[in-house]
Amino acid sequence: MVQIIRIDEAKDHVDEEVKIGVWLTDKRSSGKIAFLQLRDGSAFFQGVIVKNNVAPEVFEAAKEMHQETSFWVTGTIHQDTRSHFGYEIEVSDIEIIGESNDYPITPKDHGIEFLLDHRHLWLRSKRPFAIMQIRNEMIRATYEFFNQEGFIKIDPPILTGSAPEGTTELFQIDYFDHDAYLSQSGQLYMEAGAQAFGKVFSFGPTFRAEKSKTRRHLTEFWMIEPEMAFTHQEESLAVQEKYIAYLVQSVLDNCDYELHLLGRDPEVLKKYTKLPYPRISYDEAVKMLQDHGTDIKWGDDFGAPDETFLSDQFDQPVFVLNYPVAIKPFYMKKAPDRDDVYLCADLLAPEGYGEIIGGSERETDYEVLKQRILDAGLKESDYDWYLDLRKYGSTPHSGFGLGFERAITWICKLDHLREAIPFPRMINRIEP
Ligand code: 4AD
Ligand code: MG
Repeated sequence: MVQIIRIDEAKDHVDEEVKIGVWLTDKRSSGKIAFLQLRDGSAFFQGVIVKNNVAPEVFEAAKEMHQETSFWVTGTIHQDTRSHFGYEIEVSDIEIIGESNDYPITPKDHGIEFLLDHRHLWLRSKRPFAIMQIRNEMIRATYEFFNQEGFIKIDPPILTGSAPEGTTELFQIDYFDHDAYLSQSGQLYMEAGAQAFGKVFSFGPTFRAEKSKTRRHLTEFWMIEPEMAFTHQEESLAVQEKYIAYLVQSVLDNCDYELHLLGRDPEVLKKYTKLPYPRISYDEAVKMLQDHGTDIKWGDDFGAPDETFLSDQFDQPVFVLNYPVAIKPFYMKKAPDRDDVYLCADLLAPEGYGEIIGGSERETDYEVLKQRILDAGLKESDYDWYLDLRKYGSTPHSGFGLGFERAITWICKLDHLREAIPFPRMINRIEP
């Protein structure tokens, strides 16, 4: 029996005969030889069929088959020094499994809306393949990192009654006779988790009814939200930069092939594994923007072009510290020496990618927090449980949220978040 393998195991089977379940992505042939471009989900490589070495019907089948036909290919693995992948298969036999006619995504260029309409098929192409493999590596590295650091993963609910990040961007749903929302952030639940387990992290979907149609916004995106008891903001920043450097290093170590497929230069990524990352204050950032000629005033939030300008001034991700109270959520702790800014930071990714992390130290005082909830126009009764955390053994604690698609978009150097998630959800897109 010939051994069944996957393409990415080819290196362990040089000069052996193997069998692989594949799809055809492209082909070309002359009278005597055919080159089949093959994929099996683990990698892409080439099959070579020499007419004189195979049965006539095998060569005929290869010539006749169309893009995305699925089949068993049998053959011998050879080294192929001309391809980055390094191996190819010399085909001896083909068994067609599923035919394919008029596959809509041809090797020529297609417009982005056409590709998004066919996302269920587009995922098979090289670029989405590389991005999803890197996404998977970042998921793997995230679990590894936080487990090594002594965190446990707990899962906040998706259906909630709370609105940590403001009430304007909520997806409201009919939950029997109550108002409920799709979670904007698991943070408040992670704070409960931190008081139970010390160090916790979540990785799950979050939802924002963003009216903004930008390259940085999805209505459904995934967030990683660590939360740490007995931890101040400075220590949280140290965890954040260590985590980001770990993600980048893991992609460098394990996704060389995928980075090559995307044309992402690993040398650029290497710069982001150097710690610490620079820190500037919000005040300094405003001054930099003003000196650059923008008409931003102290107290304004940064727009995407502001963040892009700021991150362009640094060779590494940069923390912007201590934003004004008026532009951040109610749960943050004020800076000890100032009443007008919070102990918080956003991490801006380099190369103009903008905010990838938002985090802060959390308010610990029961009365202060209760007043903030009321001032934010929220119903106290919805937050009784959250206030309880300040009643029973309140501790200093800090945490943050990494926008996962933002981080992928930056590491892969993509133009838009929509390519960083398998099935993007945006204002005007809920299908496929
Ligand atoms: O800055 P945000 O709103 O912070 C929070 O939600 C905190 N509760 C997190 C925490 O401290 N546990 O969101 C966190 C990150 C942002 O930095 C950004 O990377 C990403 O989530 N993000 C989005 N990503 C894609 N589409 C959107 N609409 C996003 N909104 C925020
Ligand atoms: Mg933010």
